[in-house]
Amino acid sequence: MSGDYSGLDLALVIEARKAMANAYAPYSRFAVGAAVELDNGTIVRGCNLENASYGLALCAEAGALSTVNAHGGFARIRAIAIAGGPMDADPNMPSAIVTPCGRCRQLIREARDVGRDRGQADIRIICAGAHGQDHRVYSIDTLLPDAFGPANLT
Ligand code: THU
Repeated sequence: MSGDYSGLDLALVIEARKAMANAYAPYSRFAVGAAVELDNGTIVRGCNLENASYGLALCAEAGALSTVNAHGGFARIRAIAIAGGPMDADPNMPSAIVTPCGRCRQLIREARDVGRDRGQADIRIICAGAHGQDHRVYSIDTLLPDAFGPANLT
């Protein structure tokens, strides 16, 4: 989907972009922000956090989801917006949308499953670039089909 945003999706992408501005990513120089919206309208942000041991970077989505969980909201997620791009990109060039990495997809899938057990709708995943209007909306079953999930453990 590109062009017009629904107002709510745009508002959440703007929150993700605010978080993106706080990314600590001196190694990859790729900034990512995430914004999670709960069923009561609360918004929780996260951004990527790198360190000198390159492989141990924390993703924006994982940070936001961990904070949501710490506040008791893991089963109450309505939507997550993700925005990002190279820090040194030419701001006049289009910015490609960022979709969640594999581990973050698994975390979103877990949140969707526990939420569904408590009557929540599917989680809306809104993916955007660092700027501009291009975006795509996904469900976790599209991003992570046939996934391993909590039901496999029973
Ligand atoms: N990153 C995220 O924060 N979320 C994603 O979904 C993709 C990747 C971060 C990790 C690392 O700090 C940088 O982007 C480059 O991979």
